[in-house]
Amino acid sequence: MAASDAIEFDDIQGLVVRGYGSLPAACYLLLQITDPRKALPWLRDLAGQITYANNRPDRQAINVAVTYHGLASLRIDQTILEGFSDEFRSGMTTPHKRRILGDDGDSAPEYWQWGGPATPQVHLLLLCYARDDHVLNALYNELQTGIASHGLTQIARLGTEPLPDFKEHFGFRDSIGQPYVAEFDRHDKRRPQPVPLGEILLGYRNGYDRYTQRPLVDASQDPDSQLATDPEGSVQHDLGLNGTYLVFRQLAQDVPGFWRTLKHQAEEADHESADAVRLAAKLVGRWPSGTALVQAPDQDDPTVSDKDEFQYHATDAEGLKCPLGAHIRRTHPRDSLAPEPGSKKSIAFSNRHRLLRRGRVYGKPFDDSLDPAIFLENLDREDAPVDRGLHFICLGANVGRQFEFVQHTWANNPNFNGLYRDPDPIIGNRHAHGLPQDRFTIQRRPARCQLQGLPSFVQTRGGGYFFLPSRRALAFLFSAPAAGRKPRKTPGDTS
Ligand code: HEM
Repeated sequence: MAASDAIEFDDIQGLVVRGYGSLPAACYLLLQITDPRKALPWLRDLAGQITYANNRPDRQAINVAVTYHGLASLRIDQTILEGFSDEFRSGMTTPHKRRILGDDGDSAPEYWQWGGPATPQVHLLLLCYARDDHVLNALYNELQTGIASHGLTQIARLGTEPLPDFKEHFGFRDSIGQPYVAEFDRHDKRRPQPVPLGEILLGYRNGYDRYTQRPLVDASQDPDSQLATDPEGSVQHDLGLNGTYLVFRQLAQDVPGFWRTLKHQAEEADHESADAVRLAAKLVGRWPSGTALVQAPDQDDPTVSDKDEFQYHATDAEGLKCPLGAHIRRTHPRDSLAPEPGSKKSIAFSNRHRLLRRGRVYGKPFDDSLDPAIFLENLDREDAPVDRGLHFICLGANVGRQFEFVQHTWANNPNFNGLYRDPDPIIGNRHAHGLPQDRFTIQRRPARCQLQGLPSFVQTRGGGYFFLPSRRALAFLFSAPAAGRKPRKTPGDTS
């Protein structure tokens, strides 16, 4: 299906269909609702300023997402809250989640700058984008005035840093591999095997040809019919429809540490073609220009035009071009998964674990050139660690099957694809099971090459699970006290 009239772009927050690349200035505001009675009128007004997917803004955009505790603080009825997914409701920092996401050691939630047990509870996330810093600051100042006088507290303003050519801090081009959703495609690129719309948005059929669990509301709880009726055919109203979940992880990157390690590993390596940039490309699965190793195995070729158009099985089943454990091969194995690698079934399997990535970089780059060769010549330039990294944001209808699965079952798994003590070299947990998980294997003939003693280059500094509601859902959630909202406590009410 090409760009579809069947879906209501004006009901979907814009971030779902675009990353606002033409609005390079951005910041994220983390808010707490301290007085819901005062906050609701302001939030209703904010809902009117949200940028929806039918709009392609060229000046500024605002999107809004809410945590489970945020919904609870708005006194949304418990029966409604129970319709949200377990992952969203339990959050990112329970003992089980720390274990599966690998948030231990320096990445433990106790040390987080936000979203952890030692910092104020986050209720709302405002994602603000603008064409330049001037417009962004004006937008921020306007929002801040409202926030301060409407029963809300700003927990943090997270800044971002637009780097040239969509680079991330290690110096690699990012945001290339993205799920292709036919219904969002206004350019009609027509890639084979699109990701079903219901993988990305709630209220549509997912990769199992089913509707993903979502919050449904009794008609009596939505007396003004602000919500659409359940497309699956029940008599309930659908609070999830056209909304999705948003995963936020603030990930700090040790750029000099990354390149120092690779320089050292290249010096130790037992073959002359090993240089630090080549090894780093093996870790990522792409060259700094973004061209995939399976597209250009021997050296970077920035001229490859479609950097997302490849599979693994027919060209590189053994990982001789792109290592089996490389970051992009683990987080999106394409057609390489058993039991039928190379088949449509294998792609369909991968497609049930896709992440629509919408993050932005923060902190000053190690060098404005973003050129690894220059990084390598200046490794001792910084006297103290500099706070820089990625505000990793991804969207998806099922946090457990998408983000958590990718992080836990693929990235943190030291035995992924027959490997041993060999987690994802960029984001994998290196301390699992009481043993150092510090290897990276490069498949090669006649014998593989193995990097040993790799440290973590990325640490978690904050995070949370959010719900990114539709326009209708925002109207419902921010409406004046109604049947879907618990009555406010009155003095003496101890319930
Ligand atoms: C600081 C942390 C991270 C860095 C530096 C990083 C870096 C990169 C780079 C350079 C690429 C290649 C560009 C592209 O294919 O779009 C990439 C791709 C990707 N990353 Fe990450 N990443 C980070 C965190 C994560 C996390 C936390 C996840 C998920 C749990 C993730 C999932 C992905 C996926 C799904 C792709 C696309 C793979 C494809 O479609 O071929 N990344 N990342």
